[in-house]
Amino acid sequence: MLILGIESSCDETGVALVEAAVGDGHTPRLLGHALHSQIEMHQAYGGVVPELASRDHIRRVLPLTDAALHQAGRRLEQVELVAYTRGPGLAGALLVGAGVACAIAAALGRPTLGVHHLEGHLLSPFLSADPPDFPFVALLVSGGHTQLMRVDGVGRYELLGETIDDAAGEAFDKSAKLLGLGYPGGPALSRLAEQGQSDAFKLPRPLLHSGDLDFSFAGLKTAVLTQTKKLGAELDARRADLAAATQAAIVEVLVKKSLAALTQTGLRRLVVAGGVGANRQLRAELDAACQRRGVRVHYPELHLCTDNGAMIALAAGMRLQAGLVEEGEPSYRFDVKPRWPLAELSAP
Ligand code: KG4
Ligand code: ZN
Repeated sequence: MLILGIESSCDETGVALVEAAVGDGHTPRLLGHALHSQIEMHQAYGGVVPELASRDHIRRVLPLTDAALHQAGRRLEQVELVAYTRGPGLAGALLVGAGVACAIAAALGRPTLGVHHLEGHLLSPFLSADPPDFPFVALLVSGGHTQLMRVDGVGRYELLGETIDDAAGEAFDKSAKLLGLGYPGGPALSRLAEQGQSDAFKLPRPLLHSGDLDFSFAGLKTAVLTQTKKLGAELDARRADLAAATQAAIVEVLVKKSLAALTQTGLRRLVVAGGVGANRQLRAELDAACQRRGVRVHYPELHLCTDNGAMIALAAGMRLQAGLVEEGEPSYRFDVKPRWPLAELSAP
C-alpha cells in the first residue's frame, strides 16, 4: 500500500512516501521524502513563533508533496492512505498538516490516519540499515519530550519515566542561549563543547540518584545561568568549557537512566530517538556503556533523528501491518491533539 505521510507539528514541514505491504513481514520501504526546516525564520526571535510556523507550513506542504512524489516516481492518484501528525505539537501547525491530509484524502477517496509524533520518532530506527527487534527500551529525547518507554511491539508502549520539567533538548537550547549561541542551540552547543574541558565546571546531575526513571533539567539551566553571571567578562574565554560541562551533565543523566531502565526491564536492546539522539557525545557514551553490558543500541539515520515526514508515513505503515488501523468508510472529520501522552495509544 502506498502511504503519504505529512509532518507539521513544530518547525519542520516533512512529506514522505512509503510502501507498506501487509502480511509479508517486511518493514515499510521509504520511497521518497522532502523536508523544509523553518529554523532560519524563527532564529530572529530566539525560538519558534507558532503563528509564523503555521503560515510557513501552509506555504510549503504542497510543493514538498510534489517533491516527495517526484523522488518516489509516483503520482498522487496512486496514494492509498494519507497519514499526518495528529499530535502532540503546536495546535495551529498540526491543523495545517491534518487539514491538507484530509483534503488530499477526500479528493482521492482514500482513508486518513492520524499518527502520534513520538511513535514516529521511536519507530524511526526501523528505516535504518540496522533495525531493532521488539521488545526494546526507547529513550525519546527531543525538544519537547524526554521519556523512557518499554516497547513490546507497535502500539504497545509503557511509560517508564519522563522529565518532570524541561526536556533534554530544551536544556541544550536554553543553556546554549545563555552562552549566546542562538536557536536552536543543541547542535551549536555540542560543536563548541568539543573544544572545551567538561570537568572545568561542576554542574548538577538532577535526579541522578532518585531511584526512579524520571528526569529534571530545569535546575541545570539555573546552574548554567549562575555560572555565566559569576564569570561575567570572563565568560567569553570559558564558553567552550561551560558548554562541555553542560553537555556532560545532560549526557551522564541520559546514559545512567537508560542503563537503569535496561536493568529494571531486563531488556537487552535500546533505541534512541528524537533530535537530541543526533548528539555525538550521547551516542559515544551510550555505545561504550551498552557494549560493556552486551546491549545493542539502535539509532535512526542521522538525517531522520529530527522531525521529518518519513517517520510519520513509516508509523502509519507499521500500524497498518500490525492490524491496528480500523477499516471502514473513510471519514474526513479530523481533530488534533496538541497534548497527547504516548501511553494512551496502547491497548488496555
Ligand atoms: O525531535 P526534534 O527535531 O523536535 C522535537 O520534536 O522537539 O528535536 C529538536 C531538539 C532541539 O532541542 C535541538 O536543539 C536538539 O533536538 N538537537 C540536539 C542536537 N541536534 C538536535 N541537541 C544536542 N545535540 C545535537 N547534535
Ligand atoms: Zn520531534
